[in-house]
Parts: sequence; C-alpha cells; structure tokens
Amino acid sequence: MQAKGAYPSFTSRLAFIIAAAGSAVGLGNVWGFTYVAGANGGGGFVLIYLLALAFVAGPAFMAEMLIGRMGKASPPTALGELQASIGAKLSWPTIGWIGLVGTIMVLSFYAVIAGQAMYYGLIALQGGFAGWPEGAVVALDADFKADPLAMALWSAVFMAFTAAIVSFDIRTGIERAGKVMMPTLFVMLIGLVIYSGQTGDMGRAVDFLFGFHEINFTSRLFLEAVGQAFFTLGVGVGGIMTYGSYMGDDVKLPRATFWIVAMDLFVALAAGLAIFPLVFASGVEPTAGPGLVFLTLPIIFTEIPGGAFVAFAFFLLLTFAAVTSSISLLAPTVARMTEGRTGRPFAACLMAGTAFIASLATVYSFSDGREVYPLAALGFDGLTAFDLIREGVSNFILPLSGLAYCLIIGWALRRDDVRAALPMADGRLFTLWYMVVRIIAPLAITALFIGAVLG
Ligand code: TRP
Repeated sequence: MQAKGAYPSFTSRLAFIIAAAGSAVGLGNVWGFTYVAGANGGGGFVLIYLLALAFVAGPAFMAEMLIGRMGKASPPTALGELQASIGAKLSWPTIGWIGLVGTIMVLSFYAVIAGQAMYYGLIALQGGFAGWPEGAVVALDADFKADPLAMALWSAVFMAFTAAIVSFDIRTGIERAGKVMMPTLFVMLIGLVIYSGQTGDMGRAVDFLFGFHEINFTSRLFLEAVGQAFFTLGVGVGGIMTYGSYMGDDVKLPRATFWIVAMDLFVALAAGLAIFPLVFASGVEPTAGPGLVFLTLPIIFTEIPGGAFVAFAFFLLLTFAAVTSSISLLAPTVARMTEGRTGRPFAACLMAGTAFIASLATVYSFSDGREVYPLAALGFDGLTAFDLIREGVSNFILPLSGLAYCLIIGWALRRDDVRAALPMADGRLFTLWYMVVRIIAPLAITALFIGAVLG
C-alpha cells in the first residue's frame, strides 16, 4: 500500500515518458496499424492518420494527461475534484467510471491477442515455423482458435503477468517494466527493419506506406483513421490520466507529448517497414486484414533464412509492446481501489481476474461463437461479441471521452488555471494547442459522428 500522504510518482521525467510511451506503443501499433493501413490502401490513409494524431488525438491526449496531473488521483476522483473546484453541475466522475469500464473492455480482447503472440513466441523458441509447410501455419492458427481452453489459458497467463507488475508500487512495477521492455523493443524492431530491408522488398513497402494510390475518402476511412489514432495513443479511458497523476511537477507536458507521440508513430511506421517488405517479397497481398500478424507473417517466417529466430524476435516484441500497454490499462482501476483501504496486490489480482473473465467473451467469439451476433436484434448484425467490444470502445468510448476531456480543459476550466498548470515557455504554442482543444478537436469528433450516422 502507498504510504498515507505521499502520492506515488515516477522517479524522473524520462521514467514518465518511457512509461507513457509504453502505454501508447502496443498491439495497436504492430497488429492494428499494419492491418488497418494495409486494408485501407496505404499512403492516403497514413496521411489522414497523421492529421488525426496531430489535430485530434494528440491534443486530447495532452488534455487527459493534464487532468490527471491537476487532479492527482484516479480518474473518477480526479475528475470529481476538478468538478468541485469550479462547482459544475454535470457529474464529471461519470466520465471517469465509463473510462474504467473501458479499460476492462480493452484488456479483455488485448489479453487474447497478446496470449496468441506469447504462444507463437514459445513455438518459435522451440525452433518452430522455420521450414514448415504453409498448411502447418494455417492449421496452427485454426487449431488455436478452435481450442477455447488454450486461448483462455494464454489469456490468463498474460493477465497474471500484467497483474504481477501492477501489484508492485509504481516505481518498482510499472516504471521498471517500461525501462526494461521499451529499449529491448526498440532494438528488436530496428533489427527487424534492417533484416527486412536486406531480405525483402523495401522499395515497394515504402511506396505502399508513403506513396499516394487511388483511395476512396469515405467517412468510414476517416472513422478508421481517427479511431486508430485514439487507440494507438490510448486516449479516453483514463490510462494516461492515471500515469499523468504520477508524473513529477518537472515534466513539461508539450515536450513529453511530443516525444510520446513521436515514439508511437515511429513504432507504427517501423513495424510497417519491418512487415511489408517481407509481405511484398513473398508475393502475398498486403490487405490480409487481422490475419496479417498471425497468418501471413508466420507463413513468411517459414520461408526466410533464420525464420525461427526472426519469428521469436517478432513475437517477443509484440508481447513486450502488449505488456507495457496492458499495465496502463490495469493501473486506473487499481488506482481507484487503492484510494480506499485495499492494497495494490489484491486490487491488481481482482481487476485482472475481472478482465480475464471478460476476455472469455473474446475467446468465445474467436472459437465457437464465430457466427454468434449477440446484438443482432438491435441492428448490430454481423458483429461478434469481440467486434462489439472492440468497436464499442474504439468508436464510442474513446472519441466521446476524448471529446469530454477537450471540453473540460477547453471550456469548463478557467483558461488561467489551465495556463498555470501548463507552464510552457512559448505562449504561442499554448494558444495554438488551446484553440485545437477548444474548437478543432471537438468539431472534428462531432463531424465524425455525424458522418458515421449519415454514412
Ligand atoms: N495504445 C495501445 C496500443 O496501441 C493500447 C492502449 C493502451 C489503449 N492504453 C489504452 C487503447 C487506452 C485504448 C485506451 O495497442
């Protein structure tokens, strides 16, 4: 338990940035970005994604972090204190509670996908993939998904790992996990990009990711790009708000935001440059969708020199990326529980257990419930429980909470208080960000919803 009176904090500015970058860099960057970019035609999508990062998700991310820093408590409590400070009537803690539900929802499918990555890593460690016939990879994926028990087991392993880290106090647990895993992840990623550049077709990958191709700018594309931007930064459920509450007063928020977003973007693009050269060289389609990481890529690993080792590096990287994110998803509920008399280990186990039970819905959706659409009667036909959870979080909770954070910082709190909580050298930078948070981001999110409803 944290000592009374001493609110926990990271040891340094760098420690905060590493932890926050760990939260941002996750399955979304490697598993998500590559397949969403691939399925949406590359370059044009990437451009919209960049704009969404810069003008919507990034500024909202800073707003969420700032709320955590100003409130210095778990999300519902921090929001409640800010509400009380200005005497607003709407219940701000409700936003915090919705966020806490959102953290468990994200964790629930995160654990299943990360579980598969861990399982594949273990297979690669045993020399798997290299030299396998293509059918063996297809069967591996199919068998795993036909086996709910195996998926549940790996989900439990992943959640246990997450809970173990979060059980410790902030500096020993979350901070140290980031300091060990993030540098390792960067080294492995750069290694993989170099390998791909030598073995694969880098030219086509670069052209695919950055070149302009024919592309349909539909409202669906915008929704995907903005949703991906929110998800990848992890804005909207109070994860970064919780980390923000642990940051030292010496952290310069704009600079920290810049570095976190830059690292997040770097990892997404580097993952693309690690994966697509191999994809193009082996002649498979880049539009493989969610199967890219667990199907297309492993098939490629069977053919290339050093396949088992490359596969191991890749799945270990994916696991590390997932863990440094999942701890940021478990931290908010644990922070809320430890505001009472509950100790961190108990809170971490209880909430990880809850997320594990919730993960069984995704396990079911991947196995026996592949064609079960729970809300079909309500007009959500064709969506499994997993689809509903994932799209519910990405398309509703994240952007709407992001909107709420922007409105709180931009309109509800007094400008002078926000300015004082954000000592920036450059007044023009503040003015620009403030305008984005007040006007541009809220308008963009609202337009997106209108577009989604109409189109
Ligand atoms: N950003 C992580 C990823 O890209 C996932 C994540 C962490 C997240 N915290 C979050 C997603 C909060 C949504 C909300 O994989």
